[in-house]
Amino acid sequence: MLLVAVLAPFLVLATGVTAHPKIPNAIRNTPNSVPFSKQINVTGDLSPVHKDLIRLKNIGHDIVKGVHHIVNDVHHILKGDHRFNASTSHAREENPAPELGLSDVVMGYVAKVGVGNPPTYYSLMVDTGRAVTWVGANTPYQKTNTSVSNFEVVIEGSGTVFVYGILYNDTVTISPGIAISQQPIGVSDISAGIYPLDGVLGLGPKGLSYDTLAKNTSVIPTVTDNLFEQGTIEQNLVAMSFEPNSNSTSAINGELTFGATDRTKYTGNISYFPLTKTPPASRYWGVDASFQYGGANGSASVNILDTNAGIIDTGTTLIYLSTDAYQRYVNATGAALNETMGPGWLYMTPAQYEKLPPLSFNIGNSTFELTPNAQIWPRELNSAIRGADDVIYLVIHSLGDSSPGVDFVCGMAFLERFYTVFDTGNSRIGLAPTPFTNAETN
Ligand SMILES: *[C@@H]1O[C@H](CO)[C@@H](O)[C@H](O)[C@H]1NC(C)=O
Ligand SMILES: *[C@@H]1O[C@H](CO)[C@@H](O)[C@H](O)[C@H]1NC(C)=O
Ligand SMILES: *[C@@H]1O[C@H](CO)[C@@H](O)[C@H](O)[C@H]1NC(C)=O
Ligand SMILES: *[C@@H]1O[C@H](CO)[C@@H](O)[C@H](O)[C@H]1NC(C)=O
Ligand SMILES: *[C@@H]1O[C@H](CO)[C@@H](O)[C@H](O)[C@H]1NC(C)=O
Ligand SMILES: *[C@@H]1O[C@H](CO)[C@@H](O)[C@H](O)[C@H]1NC(C)=O
Ligand SMILES: *[C@@H]1O[C@H](CO)[C@@H](O)[C@H](O)[C@H]1NC(C)=O
Ligand SMILES: *[C@@H]1O[C@H](CO)[C@@H](O)[C@H](O)[C@H]1NC(C)=O
Ligand SMILES: *[C@@H]1O[C@H](CO)[C@@H](O)[C@H](O)[C@H]1NC(C)=O
Ligand SMILES: *[C@@H]1O[C@H](CO)[C@@H](O)[C@H](O)[C@H]1NC(C)=O
Ligand SMILES: *[C@@H]1O[C@H](CO)[C@@H](O)[C@H](O)[C@H]1NC(C)=O
Repeated sequence: MLLVAVLAPFLVLATGVTAHPKIPNAIRNTPNSVPFSKQINVTGDLSPVHKDLIRLKNIGHDIVKGVHHIVNDVHHILKGDHRFNASTSHAREENPAPELGLSDVVMGYVAKVGVGNPPTYYSLMVDTGRAVTWVGANTPYQKTNTSVSNFEVVIEGSGTVFVYGILYNDTVTISPGIAISQQPIGVSDISAGIYPLDGVLGLGPKGLSYDTLAKNTSVIPTVTDNLFEQGTIEQNLVAMSFEPNSNSTSAINGELTFGATDRTKYTGNISYFPLTKTPPASRYWGVDASFQYGGANGSASVNILDTNAGIIDTGTTLIYLSTDAYQRYVNATGAALNETMGPGWLYMTPAQYEKLPPLSFNIGNSTFELTPNAQIWPRELNSAIRGADDVIYLVIHSLGDSSPGVDFVCGMAFLERFYTVFDTGNSRIGLAPTPFTNAETN
């Protein structure tokens, strides 16, 4: 049984927030950086694949939030702005999601973010596939003199997460001295799929918040949007690095940098690629890319996926390919499927692994190679996926019929190998190698 859910404490300075200096373009040891850690809780019955596929099911469908069916609750809340009776809530009926039941975060990136003055710090799931920032699901929301209710119901019910609450404006402290005033945040009244975290740090394109409000169809600016709007950062972007470390899930080895890229976290240059125009990937951090297997050192190269639209997503654990592409990958690698491990995992012999070529992610005119080690699940965590101890499992899985129109999803297994820039201002994604691109940690 593995249970790792540790956020090592880090220094938190509760300071008042006034004027901020502009942050230069590329910096080191940046004040606008937020550390984060990887949290894994696999004590429940869910495999990360199961969790991912439930999440991805919604991509490609219009997300039905059901806000129009919960008029009674809305009135109730608006009248008193207090916690309403969840057991009689229509919201629950209209949004039976998440299919996980009340189960919890299986695996995710977790950052601590302050809200209010003085700030209360909340543990939030770093999620580039949602735009609303939520607090209050576990640690109660602590109102201060910066908390202002918008008297507006906000609701998100898709994938593995269901949250329902009131939209407040509050001061959000990203890191000591870097704060956003009047940031709209959801304050959870009822939630599922978030425990033991307090909420979500929504870093998705703000369009993803469309139709989350009961009264208002306007979208909610993300924390990144507001940091930029308020002149605190010079560029409307957030960059992300994560140092893979298979047996130390509690280490804070991730970093989000708002408004700039951190030169110490990547090698070479960052290459930028336009966001895809193909829906539904275009609603997310989507790009057009192809996958190819082999080709290195004269080995035969196999096209796994022709150029198609897919997404890059911090809320997904593994790497997913459309069914056809997945079949070609299985064929090319000779991997076998262990069907008794929940949704199934590919595995291979050490001899096959020795010969495993890189899997290339081709985008624009660039190629980012997932080394053999990057294609496998950390062996020290095999028990977490109910695998056998010394078996080599692959992180490539099939999307199945989960997300029509999306041909690949690059989750944490990908993000831990490449520095990634989510550049809203220029509608593009940046990628660069890191010192861990070729690491042998798995
Ligand atoms: C881990 O998940 C299990 C089952 O979903 C839950 O009961 C438990 O409280 C969780 N523990 C932590 C620390 O999140
Ligand atoms: C919530 O509603 C249920 C069912 O009507 C009722 O039994 C319960 O007492 C209510 N709780 C509160 C706090 O009003
Ligand atoms: C709000 O609360 C903070 C912390 O208690 C205090 O420093 C500040 O003066 C208060 N501001 C107003 C306008 O009351
Ligand atoms: C909340 O902040 C937004 C800007 O982010 C502003 O338009 C809105 O009026 C604010 N709401 C309240 C109740 O102050
Ligand atoms: C919707 O929200 C926008 C931005 O916060 C605000 O300007 C507008 O007045 C709101 N409309 C309604 C009907 O509340
Ligand atoms: C990075 O870009 C600069 C300027 O275009 C170029 O001179 C340099 O060789 C590049 N470095 C690498 C590692 O590609
Ligand atoms: C798998 O490989 C065999 C030959 O090795 C080939 O005939 C077959 O078409 C391949 N299937 C796919 C889906 O690539
Ligand atoms: C290709 O050759 C280089 C240098 O000989 C070696 O370091 C690398 O591991 C080889 N790659 C593969 C996939 O065999
Ligand atoms: C790829 O390179 C060619 C030749 O340098 C250039 O014309 C083309 O615009 C590039 N394509 C992309 C997508 O960057
Ligand atoms: C396949 O999965 C089952 C159930 O988790 C496990 O007991 C078995 O050892 C696995 N075998 C391989 C080769 O992965
Ligand atoms: C795993 O843990 C051991 C003992 O704490 C340590 O020596 C080793 O470097 C760790 N491995 C990785 C990949 O961090």
